[in-house]
Amino acid sequence: MTPRPHEAARRTTVLRREAVTAAVPVALAALLAAAGPATAAGTVGAPGAGDPYFPLSGNGGYDVHHYGLTLGYDPHSRHLDGTAVLTARATQRLTRFDLDLSGLKVTGVTVDHTKADFRRDGRELVVTPRKALRKGQEFRVTVTYSGTPKPVTDPDGSLDGWIPTDDGAFVAGEPQGAMTWFPANSHPTDKASYDFTLTVPKGSTAVANGVLLGQRTADGRTTFRWRQAEPMAAYLATATVGTFKVERYTTRDGIEVYNAVDPREAAAAAPVVKKLPSVLAWESKLFGPYPFRAAGAIVDRAPQVGYALETQTRPVYDSAPDLDTLVHESAHQWFGDSVTLTRWKDIWLNEGFATYAEWLYAEQHGGKSAQKAFDALYATPAGKDLWAFPPGDPGSGEHIFETPVYARGAMVLHKLRTAVGDPVFFRILRTWAAVHREGHGTTAQFIRLSERESGKDLTSLFHTWLFTAGKPASSCSVAGPADHGPGVLGDQVH
Ligand code: ARG
Ligand code: ZN
Repeated sequence: MTPRPHEAARRTTVLRREAVTAAVPVALAALLAAAGPATAAGTVGAPGAGDPYFPLSGNGGYDVHHYGLTLGYDPHSRHLDGTAVLTARATQRLTRFDLDLSGLKVTGVTVDHTKADFRRDGRELVVTPRKALRKGQEFRVTVTYSGTPKPVTDPDGSLDGWIPTDDGAFVAGEPQGAMTWFPANSHPTDKASYDFTLTVPKGSTAVANGVLLGQRTADGRTTFRWRQAEPMAAYLATATVGTFKVERYTTRDGIEVYNAVDPREAAAAAPVVKKLPSVLAWESKLFGPYPFRAAGAIVDRAPQVGYALETQTRPVYDSAPDLDTLVHESAHQWFGDSVTLTRWKDIWLNEGFATYAEWLYAEQHGGKSAQKAFDALYATPAGKDLWAFPPGDPGSGEHIFETPVYARGAMVLHKLRTAVGDPVFFRILRTWAAVHREGHGTTAQFIRLSERESGKDLTSLFHTWLFTAGKPASSCSVAGPADHGPGVLGDQVH
């Protein structure tokens, strides 16, 4: 191949990106994925979605609409049998494309019911359909696989994916663990609906996202059918298995709640899990209507995990959560799950917002004010972890779950709130959740929205609090006459 077509193809991609950015920001993510890098020939789907923090997460060349996952799991042998049926659309002509899959043995792949060639290349499953897919073509990929799923270890050292427990598995996939249990286009830019058919030994419960369509026990095994109708990023999928006490009810707002609690955690979990409907109602008042038709909690006993995850509609907790954690994971249903990031660098849009929700909850429920929380953090001396990097630029996938993302991320929102005032601030949060509902949002879009809603130039606030390394001087925040006075200069001395 001559270098020429290669360069032309790349230039086309770049132009397309710019046009998209200017014209339809809301559709940016989907189109960025669509514009994802092609190879020289332009017909081989890229092995990654182009995210520098996780270069091989996601893939280029297609967009998944739906996953149908049929899984059987035996907690004793830890054996998983799976069939994944992906319905997708080619965003370029494709002679070959990748799925993300780590470990497990693939026993067959078909594309539109015709056997396809496949090979494994590290965490990529490389699929060559018998016939090239046309750009725009809808197609269906079926992958049969089995084996003992193994979690991956993230750059921060934590376990991620299908994590075995003494009575099943704790299943959480942020940022990259989805590939440990199903073949996926595992980057948040590509959201899809899901159906799960999960079969486990009788007595075990398999809990996924969304609504429980039905459950049936036969021959000593129980099959649970779950449907996640609203679009979901792969990292938010779960199929947690264990011995659980189950509780079901419908809230006053018509949300179907399904809670699954490890009996060993039940006593500690009960008083907190009981508050879920009131927490969701309170958050709905602040952030706008709850984005999904289902909700709930999965409270497992998984001490090896060390974190909770906001799995869509139904967060998974590694032990009985405290109320702050429940508030945090619930807030993610708006910020992260419904409005999803398009690159991991923007993780503060998830964690800063969920952390700020905790501050707001305390403030409005007899605890300390958000201002007090801010002040206490601000008293942290320069040089401490809180100031290790700016929340808008964690630097790499190793740092996306560190203190500056959570705590300083929340501080950014508090600075915004004090700059624009409560009515405008809460309108910004609600508008953000509404405009990007069931979609994606970027940091740039959030800044633009904040400026539009407030009518203020917030460049310096975001520049200082979100993007500048080190501890910010106390009052350099909003561009406005007051900020250029001598007070600011005085403050900047320390
Ligand atoms: N998003 C989770 C939270 O709300 C944290 C997930 C951490 N995941 C990890 N692999 N370290 O706190
Ligand atoms: Zn979080």
